[in-house]
Amino acid sequence: MRKKITISVLLLISLNFSGFSQLPKETPEQKEKRLEWWTDARFGMFIHWGLYASPARHEWVKKYEKMNNEEYEKYFEIFNPDLYNPHEWAKKAKEAGMKYAVITTKHHEGFCLFDSKYTDYKATNTPIGKDLIAEWVEAFRAKGLKIGFYYSLLDWHHPDYTIDRNHPLSVSSDEEYDKQNQGKDMDVYRKYIKDQVRELLTNYGTIDIIWLDYSFPSGKHGKGRTDWDSENLLKMVRELQPGIIVNDRLDLLEVEGGWDFTTPEQYKVSKWPEKNGQKVPWETCQTFSGSWGYYRDEMTWKDTKQLLVLLIESVSKGGNLLLNVGPTARGTFDYRTNEKLEEMGEWMKFNDRSIYGCTQAPEEFITPDNCLLTYNPETNRLYVHLLDYPMKWFTLKGFAGKVKYAQFLHDGSEIQFGQPRHNVTHQETLAEEDVILILPMVKPNVEVPVIELILN
Ligand code: GLC
Repeated sequence: MRKKITISVLLLISLNFSGFSQLPKETPEQKEKRLEWWTDARFGMFIHWGLYASPARHEWVKKYEKMNNEEYEKYFEIFNPDLYNPHEWAKKAKEAGMKYAVITTKHHEGFCLFDSKYTDYKATNTPIGKDLIAEWVEAFRAKGLKIGFYYSLLDWHHPDYTIDRNHPLSVSSDEEYDKQNQGKDMDVYRKYIKDQVRELLTNYGTIDIIWLDYSFPSGKHGKGRTDWDSENLLKMVRELQPGIIVNDRLDLLEVEGGWDFTTPEQYKVSKWPEKNGQKVPWETCQTFSGSWGYYRDEMTWKDTKQLLVLLIESVSKGGNLLLNVGPTARGTFDYRTNEKLEEMGEWMKFNDRSIYGCTQAPEEFITPDNCLLTYNPETNRLYVHLLDYPMKWFTLKGFAGKVKYAQFLHDGSEIQFGQPRHNVTHQETLAEEDVILILPMVKPNVEVPVIELILN
């Protein structure tokens, strides 16, 4: 009898634990397959758009300037992006070489660009008076781009969302927090998240990516997996859209199936990120100028070469780049955004073969100075990106016997093999180990020239 009880208790406990991870199980190969289109795509567009486009001074303006709902209300009343044409946006993304896009359906301010039946705080109730997400999905899908939704877990407008340290109305003592949060019921808010995410994943067809943002469990007055009911939320997401790809900000890093890819934000990783010794899928999200939402007076724009290097370097370490656009309050892209996208597109038009389907080069290939390597395992081609254009004789150390043919990628022109020169005092090249390429002395008219090596 006693034994029986112990067994059933054990069973209950294990059931409980597996209930905890009742997220669909899959093998590493199955996961790789599910993510395949995304790892091949390498380049996507992030879009941060909301009421904060009107103040045009950071998407966190409500917090930074400690505004309450009444003070922020004027942006709701004036929101009228009359020039909004998502077909134009999709065209720009496509021409830049992007293969997918992720848009903020709701950011931390709580305002919904989509027509949710669970709130009045939405685009349909502003002067523009329509579901901006519905049009967006249709336009981006029509261009063959994959569809991603960003949904903020934080909500600075919902009455039941408790004041925490990131909230515009954050306070300085426990007592004040208690006072502020009296009567607020996070259960109501947790249900609201699920209701809205269900709407997003039911009413707009196949959704390829979801970005749930974000958790800040550390210290006091933060929020994490219990605040969002992350496991159940994610279970629902996977049930509604089994193929969907999910980011890693639900605070479920240790839970099997709790995330699909990791998201280094606004910095460069030094190498392919790992978890428990295993390389993991990753995507860096980056801005043009620092903020995510449209910021009129921000002058810290990255130049096109920096942006291209961000992309190439990500692929050279096995990752993706999600590059952010913050559309204006009229619903258009800022002129600098257009410029950068066009210039990146110009490069991609001639060089995208070194990006799509590519990844980190096998270790046997030593990266030459001032270069980045990417590699396409399907075609067995290696791409040498010349970040700082070299002199005529270009040595590939240790490449002897490995290269069948070399050409520039942008114009398909042959690059001939050379011999080591004998008029040098320091013999830098070893004929038996290295490959010497004879490049034109003048840099081709390409921001970052790429040499395509067809390998043996
Ligand atoms: C952070 C910021 C947010 C931005 C996001 C993009 O979570 O709070 O403004 O949307 O990063 O990764």
